Amino acid sequence: MEVIESVALMQSKAEELRLSGSTIGFVPTMGFLHEGHLELMRVAGRLSDKVIVSIFVNPAQFGPQEDFAKYPRDTQGDLAKVEKVPVDIVFMPSAAEMYPEGFQSKVSVGDLSRHLCGLSRPGHFDGVATVVCKLFNITKPHIAVFGQKDYQQLAVISRMVEDMAMDVDIVGVPTVREEDGLAMSSRNAYLSAEERRSALCLKKAMDRAGELYARGERDSSVLKSSMERLILEHPFTNIDYVSVCDPVTLDDLETLGDRFLIALAVKVGKTRLIDNRLVKKANNFERSGS
Ligand code: PAF
Repeated sequence: MEVIESVALMQSKAEELRLSGSTIGFVPTMGFLHEGHLELMRVAGRLSDKVIVSIFVNPAQFGPQEDFAKYPRDTQGDLAKVEKVPVDIVFMPSAAEMYPEGFQSKVSVGDLSRHLCGLSRPGHFDGVATVVCKLFNITKPHIAVFGQKDYQQLAVISRMVEDMAMDVDIVGVPTVREEDGLAMSSRNAYLSAEERRSALCLKKAMDRAGELYARGERDSSVLKSSMERLILEHPFTNIDYVSVCDPVTLDDLETLGDRFLIALAVKVGKTRLIDNRLVKKANNFERSGS
């Protein structure tokens, strides 16, 4: 496995791989890797000849009051983990390498970026789209793999790729969960033992909404208020949003049809957690794992 820090070197290496006929699978990450990330890498390995993983904590997607400075980092631990999965190159640029002096461009994906997390994190998805666009130009992937836990991010990136006719296939991978159902996230490391117990309220809330839907409830406000009550019964919780929305546009729904998305963002103590579930009528209440 090779570690590359320079943009120019990564670009020429990616070009070489393409010219040799290899397909490139790319997994962008911000490091502090867990089983969820490793699963994205395994999927990339199954779908392509060579796997490139980036590790870059992207300052442009953090707001001024957010956790950029204290976002967990563990470069040595990450490199050891990546050795165990089929990864050929780790691209680990510095902030100065990605955003050199004079950098001033921005990729902005309209409406999709303004819903859900976009409401409390203005500018977040511009930061994500911008860095992912640049990472695509550097690593030149045929496919890029993202987790469905960040459903809105996946939607924004898919939209950007389609709108800009980028020649890369976006693959979404179901969320990997702890045994008790908590979605894996680098931010889970912030939780105290008591907060970790409370954090299960996200999964329980989605279960409750699913049960209501399965029993025939079609008024989204009933699902929402029931989820909100359940979440607030748990200590340390503060709701950012509870949304029942269209899975494509992310617009709120009033009456539920055969397919909708439940998306949640809840602060547990100081840690903001997100989760989501795609519900389809045909399979009753589908646990998409997302
Ligand atoms: O999901 C993440 O870890 C980040 O948002 C990403 C896609 C690596 C861009 O910085």
